[in-house]
Amino acid sequence: MPFAHITGWGMHVPEPVLTNDDISKLVDTSDEWIRERTGIRERHIARENEFPSTLGVEAAIKALQIANLAPTELDLIICTSSSPEYIFPATACLIQDQIGATKAGAFDLQAACSGFVFSINMAAQAIRSGSIKSALIVGTEVLSRFVNWKDRNTCILFGDGAGAFVLQASDVPGGVMSAVMHSDGSGANSLIIPGGGARFPASELSIHENKHFIHMDGKEVFRFATRVMGKATLEALEQAKLTIDDIQWIIPHQANIRIVETAAKYLKVPLDKFIVNVDRYGNTSTASIPIATVEAIQKGQLKAGDKAVFVGFGGGLTWGAMVVEWTGPIPITKQVHPEQYRLFARLRSIVRRALRFIEGLFSRWDS
Ligand code: UT7
Repeated sequence: MPFAHITGWGMHVPEPVLTNDDISKLVDTSDEWIRERTGIRERHIARENEFPSTLGVEAAIKALQIANLAPTELDLIICTSSSPEYIFPATACLIQDQIGATKAGAFDLQAACSGFVFSINMAAQAIRSGSIKSALIVGTEVLSRFVNWKDRNTCILFGDGAGAFVLQASDVPGGVMSAVMHSDGSGANSLIIPGGGARFPASELSIHENKHFIHMDGKEVFRFATRVMGKATLEALEQAKLTIDDIQWIIPHQANIRIVETAAKYLKVPLDKFIVNVDRYGNTSTASIPIATVEAIQKGQLKAGDKAVFVGFGGGLTWGAMVVEWTGPIPITKQVHPEQYRLFARLRSIVRRALRFIEGLFSRWDS
């Protein structure tokens, strides 16, 4: 049975930065309150011409460069997002088109902030079963478009950004070692965008009632998160037949520093075993774990051979954790340039649209 290794990683955040002081000009809050209650100092906010797919493509290309894998080699793309480009089609398909992943099946996985952990697990299982050899996972968010900038309970928390991993099959032991996934839909209302779906389709009333924004019971989510983070970590460790002492790093969903501190106490480990960057990005939902991972690698913290836990929680309610043995890039025999496929992808997309148009004309004449 092949092993599923993480062989590539990338992140991308939009350039504009929104500080706590900037937010304090929009709502009744302060830098001091936000830092003390959440640990957040600033977050990145997408420009008007940036979308989940465009941020995701940038992160994906970087991950493919590290994996030295051509987009045309990918078998599967899973995009996970709490702020997808459309209800449908899947953001994964937009990314597939833009990077030129000609043979990949692409779909979105919706599990809110737990989406990245769930997606890695799904891709790893497909690799382990032998049905695919490679997969691209993209967590990408433009949550700023779903934030009510008049609601101080939520607008202080979220940020935009994207992260991506490449997973590949190998006979060498390592990679994804275990994973647990959990859900509790009885908590659906605790963190929800109620409008825009089939229950409350867009209407004057739905807009008037702010249903298209994030609604959150902060205290409820906080209590839930502190309850599940440590437990899920131990569950994933037990499944991998490891203990917390065998782990070099815990890379949690970045929502609030106080949630991480509570998990550290529960697990009886020092806080510096956790990778934390919520101060600079806020909560980027599905993108927070890969962004934290990429930064940990860039800082020389996470290294090949290390064992790490990824642990996420969020809307649904959903939560999950996994243990990975970090692989690092696989040795290169021939250098590929995934970024060069973008021009080819754009041309291919234009040609395919034109062909579809021409085909439509002919079928009209035929009938
Ligand atoms: O991916 C998962 C996403 N969500 C989360 O992880 C969120 C989890 N929850 C949290 O992080 C925290 O609950 C918050 C950061 C949202 C709120 O922190 P808190 O310590 O739970 O504050 P609170 O809701 O208990 O509010 C305490 C006080 C209240 O005032 P009173 O009633 O005590 O007078 C709030 O009105 O702080 C007030 N408050 C604020 N004050 C200044 C709430 N938000 C703000 C604010 N600035 N932004």
